[in-house]
Amino acid sequence: MNIINISTTPFDDQKPGTSGLRKKVSVFQQPHYLENFVQSIFDNAPQLKGELMVLGGDGRFYNKQAVQTILKMAAAYGVKRVLVGENGLLSTPAVSCLIRKNSAAGGIILSASHNPGGENGDFGIKFNIANGGPAPTSFTDAVFETSKVLTEYQVAECDDIALDHQHKTHIGDMKIEVIDPVTDYAELMGHLFDFDKIRSLFSSGLLSMCFDAMHAVTGPYAKAIFEKGLSANNGAVINGIPLEDFGGGHPDPNLAHAEELVDILNAGPSAPQFGAASDGDGDRNMIIGQDFFVNPSDSLAIMTANAHLLPGYSQGICGVARSLPTSRAVDKVAQAIGIECYETPTGWKYFGNLLDDNRITLCGEESFGSGSDHIREKDGIWAVLFWLNLIAVKQQSVEQITRDHWKQFGRHYYTRHDYEAIDSTIADDMMQNMRDKAGSLSGQTFGGYTVQLCDDFSYTDPVDNSITEHQGIRILFDDESRIVFRLSGTGTEGATLRVYIERYVMDADKHDLPTQEALAELIEIANQVAEIQQRCGREKPDVIT
Ligand code: G1P
Ligand code: ZN
Repeated sequence: MNIINISTTPFDDQKPGTSGLRKKVSVFQQPHYLENFVQSIFDNAPQLKGELMVLGGDGRFYNKQAVQTILKMAAAYGVKRVLVGENGLLSTPAVSCLIRKNSAAGGIILSASHNPGGENGDFGIKFNIANGGPAPTSFTDAVFETSKVLTEYQVAECDDIALDHQHKTHIGDMKIEVIDPVTDYAELMGHLFDFDKIRSLFSSGLLSMCFDAMHAVTGPYAKAIFEKGLSANNGAVINGIPLEDFGGGHPDPNLAHAEELVDILNAGPSAPQFGAASDGDGDRNMIIGQDFFVNPSDSLAIMTANAHLLPGYSQGICGVARSLPTSRAVDKVAQAIGIECYETPTGWKYFGNLLDDNRITLCGEESFGSGSDHIREKDGIWAVLFWLNLIAVKQQSVEQITRDHWKQFGRHYYTRHDYEAIDSTIADDMMQNMRDKAGSLSGQTFGGYTVQLCDDFSYTDPVDNSITEHQGIRILFDDESRIVFRLSGTGTEGATLRVYIERYVMDADKHDLPTQEALAELIEIANQVAEIQQRCGREKPDVIT
């Protein structure tokens, strides 16, 4: 095998965000840009030398080219064996599953998650460590430092590898296996859930479903698991063929972007009883019933309250975690069943230590992400199976399960308002302004709400004691309402301000208000405290979820 050294000029913009490095495709297409970042990963991951690595992505534009480049660089670096998904496809949860199952030293995932794809869209790359989870900040910081000073990278000189069928091949000494992306993941799901029970519900005709794969990576997984494995109804999977531009759509499973699915579920009594969608790389989920939306924070709480009813979790759960902006619905459940509930910064990587240390079984984020200790990533198909299994056990609709939950634990009205593409300096100033006045807000009253505490969230990891600061301004009110402000770490254009608003209502007679109405006064307070209109000139958010 001939290895060539190629000179590169370092880049100064390869700092990974909340979840890997994300940029416009055109940025990644600059000469040496991808290679510079990949070499920086290898240089900081000597554990890959002589070991197994997993490689795949969500199928977006540039996925295939990047797989070829990474294979040649992995061979040059001395990786011993690579498992790569057929056609370069692997969902994020499948990568995590494969790393763990095969004791791989790590994996590279090519994805910009829910960001739009295609030639003018976004591309991304993430590194996962041997536990199957996202690399910690200490690793991504080190990669960033290397990327700024790298002067050359190494590539094996060889032809492209055929990815369009399953086979074994090699580049020099490095073995490559092009594998079915679904098999191992589907097998793991079979161990966690009662497929027979779900299947009999489908075959009795009592349940029908619609899953929107949004032309992203979950299509093949959904077809194999829901249609074949569970014999779900015809039409159970829509938009099931992965496309490089996601069919021109925005593969983000929420009410705004999964419109087609929402229309199908809202079509009246003949509509399927259960609806779900996942994102570009298959780690997010949205759960809906007929004309009924399950807030992801509620979904985590409902899962926590009911996990013991499902085979994979029949021993009960040892603890639970949620990211800071996720509503505190799950806290109520944790309190009731007597388990610990951890509050972490935004991003799945903060759950890794808690899972590895057996402190938690379930975890989730308001951003349509939930998961468990079965892997170290959030997992869209898993969440759908969890709900299907729960419906099969309870023989109740999505709406009934959720309403019963609210009755027992109270309801957390919840919304997130996103203001996108704000000038970065204006956004930074706005956050700094709130940081400065945080201390003085305590005790202040806004309409019917009195501030109990206001601070800039800082997290001390209980396992390794690492400290992560400036994770969001949170305002807690004395009636358990809460507002959180933070800037997105995944955007590729200017800054995105996220405002998270919640209000706790115990009284079941008051569980039927439209969410924006229930939160109207708090939304007003949020705008007032952050001075959004004055500073950004924005009358209303770009996206409400
Ligand atoms: C967003 C979500 C966050 C999630 C991340 C990756 O990050 O808010 O919960 O972990 O995407 O899917 P943000 O853009 O807010 O930094
Ligand atoms: Zn994702």
